[in-house]
Amino acid sequence: MSAVVVVGAQWGDEGKGKLIDVLAANADTVVRFQGGSNAGHTLVVNGKKTVLHLIPSGILHADKTCLIASGVVIDIFGLVTEIQNLKATGYQITGTQLQISDTATVLLPYHKVLDQAREKSLSDGKIGTTGKGIGPAYEDRAARRALIMSDLFDTPNLLKKLEFVLKEKNSLLKNLYDVPEIKAQDLFDQIQTVVEILRPHRLSDVSLLISQKMKQGKKILFEGAQGTLLDIHHGTYPFVTSSSTVAGSGSVSAGIGPHHLSKIVGVFKAYATRVGSGPFPSELHDNIGAQIQKEGHEFGSTTGRARRCGWLDLVALKYAIRLNGINSLAMMKIDVLSCLDEVSVCTSYKLRGEVITDFPTSTEDVSQVEPIIETFPGWKVDITQVKSVKDLPLKAMNYIHFIQQHVGCPIDVISVGPDREQTLWIKPLYNN
Ligand code: IMP
Repeated sequence: MSAVVVVGAQWGDEGKGKLIDVLAANADTVVRFQGGSNAGHTLVVNGKKTVLHLIPSGILHADKTCLIASGVVIDIFGLVTEIQNLKATGYQITGTQLQISDTATVLLPYHKVLDQAREKSLSDGKIGTTGKGIGPAYEDRAARRALIMSDLFDTPNLLKKLEFVLKEKNSLLKNLYDVPEIKAQDLFDQIQTVVEILRPHRLSDVSLLISQKMKQGKKILFEGAQGTLLDIHHGTYPFVTSSSTVAGSGSVSAGIGPHHLSKIVGVFKAYATRVGSGPFPSELHDNIGAQIQKEGHEFGSTTGRARRCGWLDLVALKYAIRLNGINSLAMMKIDVLSCLDEVSVCTSYKLRGEVITDFPTSTEDVSQVEPIIETFPGWKVDITQVKSVKDLPLKAMNYIHFIQQHVGCPIDVISVGPDREQTLWIKPLYNN
């Protein structure tokens, strides 16, 4: 087995960054394949916290290759800040360690301005985007007017390209949103301040490098961002992000055949959260929701927004398992539930008087379903120092077994705290 994909099986913020960081120890290469700096992947090593937005979560291992593939939208100024912050805390970040596809999309300040202006102009129907310019950048890619990474190094033509793109953007910004003009020359000059920092990280062909590594038997880890229910095609549209967040998207973005993605790991929290707008059937509006939010520190690592909290939704989890082809689950943050007297899960929905067990494809239906809940006694002991699955309280194990059985997929990893060390393995995810 050479490629493992890690995807979010809920609405994002499941703890993918932590799992990637842990798994990277046994991999050769980590590939980030979609999204942009809307993501916030938090890693804790020996109590020290690092938040990454664009750089793959394998970067804290000096001997690993981290690739940013074509399907990512790259805020070049944000990326340079991230590189510099890591360097300031003692990480090297060489050109071999971090390599960026020449064909990835460049996200520029006008994408952010447009994203924020659009959200501001909406009274109803706000998506609740992160304001990081993700939608506008993917729009430009699809409309074939985006700058791609290689354009940054083509100095003679860069200004012309910026002038072309800004002609339309400025008209839109000025006429629709009353935003001042962005000058091509100013942006060109701004780009020149980061081009030389990015140059050592250029990679012309991600696909070729991965296929060579796979032929040498090296292990490749694909890092998803956001979560399945935010997928542009399969999520609760239009309350979604603008990229495809499912495992298959890794194959497209990196340019490797789908059959190479043999292990698909779905990461989920022992409860559910959602940030931004959109339906959330198992959402809690009571004290328990507030308690989970407080205990779980459920505030966005990118925007600082409070995350909505609710019970684990097994209807949604089964949907994520199907869409991605998940064959292994990683359960995160079960320690957060230790504070509760009782722990519940949503096992099915009621829609127009009928019980349903499959996640509706209509967002309107998702917003109308009533969750059907099953409740378990809580374990009420601190499990953050537990070192082996066999030492987990029986009541916690009953909860874990119920989930596993209900969704028909093994839970191979259980995380009981943010640190690398707080990870319990039921089954190794790599065949070493
Ligand atoms: P966008 O990706 O910034 O366009 O935001 C679209 C929706 O996806 C909003 O509801 C965001 O809150 C949500 N979203 C985007 N990225 C993340 C993430 O990394 N974690 C959780 N939610 C996200």
